[in-house]
Amino acid sequence: MRTQVGIIGAGPAGLLLSHLLHLRGIDSVVLESRTREQIESTIRAGVLEQGTMDLLSEAGVGARMKAEGALHHGFELAFEGKRRRIDLTDLTGHSITVYAQHEVIKDLVAARMEAGGQLLFSVSDTSIHGIETATPSIRFQHDGQACELQCDFVIGCDGSQGVSRASIPAALRKDYERVYPFGWFGILCEGPPSSDELIYARHERGFALVSTRSANVQRMYFQCDPKESVANWSDDRIWAELHARVDSADGQKVVDGKIFQKNIVGMRSFVSTTMQHGRLFLAGDAAHIVPPTGAKGLNLAVADVRVLTAALQAFYVENRLDLLDGYSATALKRIWRAEHFSYWMTRMMHRLDDASPFEQQLQVAELEHVTTSRAAATAMAENYVGVAAV
Ligand code: FAD
Ligand code: DHB
Repeated sequence: MRTQVGIIGAGPAGLLLSHLLHLRGIDSVVLESRTREQIESTIRAGVLEQGTMDLLSEAGVGARMKAEGALHHGFELAFEGKRRRIDLTDLTGHSITVYAQHEVIKDLVAARMEAGGQLLFSVSDTSIHGIETATPSIRFQHDGQACELQCDFVIGCDGSQGVSRASIPAALRKDYERVYPFGWFGILCEGPPSSDELIYARHERGFALVSTRSANVQRMYFQCDPKESVANWSDDRIWAELHARVDSADGQKVVDGKIFQKNIVGMRSFVSTTMQHGRLFLAGDAAHIVPPTGAKGLNLAVADVRVLTAALQAFYVENRLDLLDGYSATALKRIWRAEHFSYWMTRMMHRLDDASPFEQQLQVAELEHVTTSRAAATAMAENYVGVAAV
């Protein structure tokens, strides 16, 4: 088997890259270890920056996102029993759309299929070879057969647990990591929205987030012990915790609904440099992870793909190598900005068990500042919508 660009992983990064390359006349093959049903049903992110929406629309997969996604012009910060609004559109001229990641995946898979794209599911034993030569390859098992995909470039879009990152020699890599001592308990429930906009709540019991999926399905999260078991949380206990953390002194309450999905995710910040070696390039969670508080993970994966698409186009159309050579440095500027923002949001909003009463007061002081100073609110809003200067 031969193609121009071999892509490992059919997450948002791999699928979008493959489709954008196709639109530029560049061939690719996407290899995915899970089934189509699995990738189309995994519940993850929900917030899309304007730049992400623009690139999805440019790729011709924006119609359902525009019709079914909800445009949000602001969000609320809840703390000390009150709620204060961050008006994203007023402060930045931009907004965000709430549209589930697995719906983005469905749209991208459908577009790849319709275009006759090569997308192999349920591959196993993926390994990368010859990245220091001009003829790299990917070996894998598919349908019980040993296969080899020869290509000009290998793009590792295989998420945080994939094989690509480890294919860059350890001596050339420097990893930066911070693991947080808490996780998020996430639920999906049937019922009406509790609020017109997302609510990020800081409470002495811990952080909580009220998000949405549609008029009838809601998404909520609350800070928990990352080793907590879903089985310990009855629906009643979950609602009691969300009410305690989010309901405001003036009577605004979270609306209970029928919970049909529960999951717990750990939280960490991670950046692997370099994101390229020879003919191997990493994009998305394969190279970096952010805690979900800033809603940046999916958006960063898409931003990497934008840079990489332009670099591969410059190579194939103009025979230029400079954009490919500069990929890691270019992408890392935005990545470090988002890493800082996600870390900052996480530290400001979560219950920090190692924080002294003094540091806890600093969290409140910072929330007062970002909700009363237009300059501070603008900085937060620019980061949230993804237009902060780098
Ligand atoms: P992934 O989506 O992880 O895709 C990688 C793919 O590669 C997977 O399908 C995997 O099966 C496949 N794969 C792995 N190994 C192999 C292999 N060896 N061979 C072949 N295939 C392989 N981000 C936001 O922007 N906004 C949010 O609101 C947000 N909220 C989040 C909430 C939660 C609870 C979580 C968990 C994440 C959230 N994120 C959010 C982060 C976001 O989901 C990820 O950053 C995003 O999925 C990264 O996309 P990706 O394509 O890089 O990787
Ligand atoms: C959602 C997830 C996030 O991490 C976030 O910051 C906001 C919303 C969501 O899944 O809706």
